[in-house]
Amino acid sequence: MTAQIIDGKALAEKLRQGFKARVEALTAKGHKPGLVVILVGADPASEVYVRNKVNGCLAIGMHSEKITYEATVDQATVLAKIAELNADPNIHGILVQLPLPGHFDEEAVLEAIAADKDVDGFHAENVGALAQGNPRFIPCTPYGVMKMFEQGGVDLSGKEAVVIGRSNIVGKPMALLLINAGATVTVCNSRTRDLAGHTRRADILVAAVGKAKFVTADMVKPGAVVIDVGINRLPDGKLCGDVDFDGCQAVAGQITPVPGGVGPMTITMLLANTIEAAERKAAAA
Ligand code: GUN
Repeated sequence: MTAQIIDGKALAEKLRQGFKARVEALTAKGHKPGLVVILVGADPASEVYVRNKVNGCLAIGMHSEKITYEATVDQATVLAKIAELNADPNIHGILVQLPLPGHFDEEAVLEAIAADKDVDGFHAENVGALAQGNPRFIPCTPYGVMKMFEQGGVDLSGKEAVVIGRSNIVGKPMALLLINAGATVTVCNSRTRDLAGHTRRADILVAAVGKAKFVTADMVKPGAVVIDVGINRLPDGKLCGDVDFDGCQAVAGQITPVPGGVGPMTITMLLANTIEAAERKAAAA
């Protein structure tokens, strides 16, 4: 058996084309969606992500700008900028790229973003709303994965789902979304005892552990849907997911590649969240 590949790049492109009309309609009503991305420091990977986020907005007619600070900037300066953006009627989404330098209190920064502009869905209010099954902003990566299930016709109700990874950005919100969709969810991590015993029962397996080729074919249930959230760089410079794609492709029913899988969906759902924020604002005006 060779797994069907879930093409995140194609789905992302299709969704982004569909966003253009919504952006145009909002712009015509004076609510052009606007996203500000704040980057502290010069981490090369973060710089690439931030550039892709800003360019993704501009490509579909949204407003977007990047604000960068030296890694040594003090937290108060960034908090003052967030307060200014919270009050700016032309800005609908504010994103602070993570990780922040060590002297920052990450939670304090995320909580400073107005909950109705928190397009990452990381504010405690938005995390709480998701946990209660009534989400306002869904964190972009797990949101993208849910869209991929939808596209692949994957019915989650009653299924065994295993998430490897427990981060606030992916693992935890992914688990909540799967619970809300009626799956039976197990959240593992790299130190879980008998990890393969868990993963081999999974109809749906989401790998978000940050270790190259961590999930091998012997860990996958035949016919399972395997979602690879990992982006790891190999010593030869090539990108590689958390899943051993070549091996697992022979066992899984559906699988996402890296690159071209979850990655393009993450930014797509950031655009979706920002457009949604602008639509809510327009509806309330
Ligand atoms: N760093 C890695 N992923 C993300 C994300 O989804 N949002 C933010 N703000 N930072 C990140």
